[in-house]
Amino acid sequence: MKIIYYGHSTFLIETSTHRLLIDPFLTGNPQATTTAAEISCDYILLSHGHEDHTADAAEIARANQATIIANYEIAEYFSSQGLTTHGMNPGGGFDFPFGRVALTPAIHTSSLNAGANPIYLGTACGIVIEAEGKRIYHAGDTALFSDMKLIGRHGLDLALLPIGDNFTMGPADALDALDFLAPKLAVPMHFNTWPPITQDAAAFAQAAAARQRAVKVLSPGQSLKI
Ligand code: NI
Ligand code: MN
Repeated sequence: MKIIYYGHSTFLIETSTHRLLIDPFLTGNPQATTTAAEISCDYILLSHGHEDHTADAAEIARANQATIIANYEIAEYFSSQGLTTHGMNPGGGFDFPFGRVALTPAIHTSSLNAGANPIYLGTACGIVIEAEGKRIYHAGDTALFSDMKLIGRHGLDLALLPIGDNFTMGPADALDALDFLAPKLAVPMHFNTWPPITQDAAAFAQAAAARQRAVKVLSPGQSLKI
């Protein structure tokens, strides 16, 4: 299957039958090379409520008649806007037409409009997707936590991990996450979007290689196949 990176934590997974968009943040993303109007997808998976993970979810869901998969509170929030949603919670999995999705814990917050009029939208999650014999973990925004060992215990073909620091784990903790998760391949995300999360992803990949961990750095618009 093909994994396309759109910058920040936004990825599109193309199976032979479905297109799964994760954490769409194109509008307002200074690194984005694609617009929300250019995306076509069948499902939209959201790790938590923050705007830099949900900004384009409603527009893209509406334009594509896509189903939003997220924690229960986020699902209800978008359902109240007339969108099709499927609510879940950490520890739970569900078999969709394209494969299985399970939400995992993440250590982070989950709100919208955090400044003036915050809406709290449940707990932040990670997302495990099993499709066509591959298992992919999108960590969302999270700190390092030792239960990542549980997330990796059945094997991971790909892990999408934040390395930006400040709002999430930084490169040093992400290296330890690689040891806990032991994925066949990891792609860093949630870095270089704004100055506080500037990181040297190539140096992260090099440090990972020294630990026998494979990391591929993608620029917005680039893709890989697993
Ligand atoms: Ni966040
Ligand atoms: Mn974020």
